[in-house]
Formats: sequence, structure tokens, C-alpha cells
Amino acid sequence: MRVDYPTLARTIAALTGGEDDHVALMATVACEVHHADDRFDWTGFYRVVAPDLMKIGPYQGGHGCLVIPFSRGVCGAAARSREVQLVADVEAFPGHIACSSATRSEIVLPVFDPNGDLIAVFDIDSNQPDAFDMKDAEALSAILAAVFARPGTLAA
Ligand code: SME
Repeated sequence: MRVDYPTLARTIAALTGGEDDHVALMATVACEVHHADDRFDWTGFYRVVAPDLMKIGPYQGGHGCLVIPFSRGVCGAAARSREVQLVADVEAFPGHIACSSATRSEIVLPVFDPNGDLIAVFDIDSNQPDAFDMKDAEALSAILAAVFARPGTLAA
């Protein structure tokens, strides 16, 4: 199954409208995105919990590592750069953190709050090589902004 991003965005908007709790929002986004496309084998968030440190948040798929500093992995690169990381071959990415030996490609997107502060990264792993493209990056970035950067979702 291949994701239909306009439908996915509408579904997530309907499910999360009016909600400002980050755990509830992340759990819903991880669930809906994960089940939207057969390419997505691990889907989840790493939350910024301290300067230069992330801890795992809501996810779907096999167990993920619990703690990722900004200095490590594809997630750390997304957090440091504040830019989407599109990795066609994880074995070619220096410092890739392999939570599963089956992972072949990965996309990691920064997640910002309404103030533009980084609150998390959103990580999708695929067991297929070169599974992600700019359409995924643009559509997922728009969904994350609609959920987490809209007014009213600032964490208390
Ligand atoms: N591959 C990620 C780590 C998270 S696991 O894939 C769920 C990274 O290199 O940052």
C-alpha cells in the first residue's frame, strides 16, 4: 500500500483537532503514518528532553533505542541541522544507529513548536533500500507543522 498524503493529512487533522497534549499528538501521528504505507517499518518520535539530548517517544514497530544525543545517528543529524535527513542507504551514513539490522533506508524530520523551537524529530525506517524521496519529505513536514506548529499546541 502506498500512502495518499492528502487523505492522511485530513485523517490526522480530524483525529488531532483541538488536542494540545504532545504525547497524544505523537501517538496518533505515529500510528496513522505507520499504517499508511508498506514502506514504513518503524515510525516514531525522539523528544528533545535536554540541550543536545533526545529520548524515545511514541512509536510503532520493533523496540527503538531509548536515548539519542544530538551528536549521534541520523536523528542527531536532523536535530543539529534542523533539516530533513533523507538516507537512501543507512550503511553509508556515518554513525547510523541501527535499532534493527533489517533497516535499509531512513527519513528523519525535525519537529518544531509554534515558536520554531525544536521539540522532537520524527523518524521512519524502511527495510527497503532508497525508500524515501522529496515528496515524502515535503508531505510529512507539512503534516508535522500542521499538528505541532499550529497555535495552541505549545507544551505547558
Ligand atoms: N536510526 C536512528 C536511530 C533510531 S532507530 O532507527 C528507531 C538514527 O540513526 O538516529
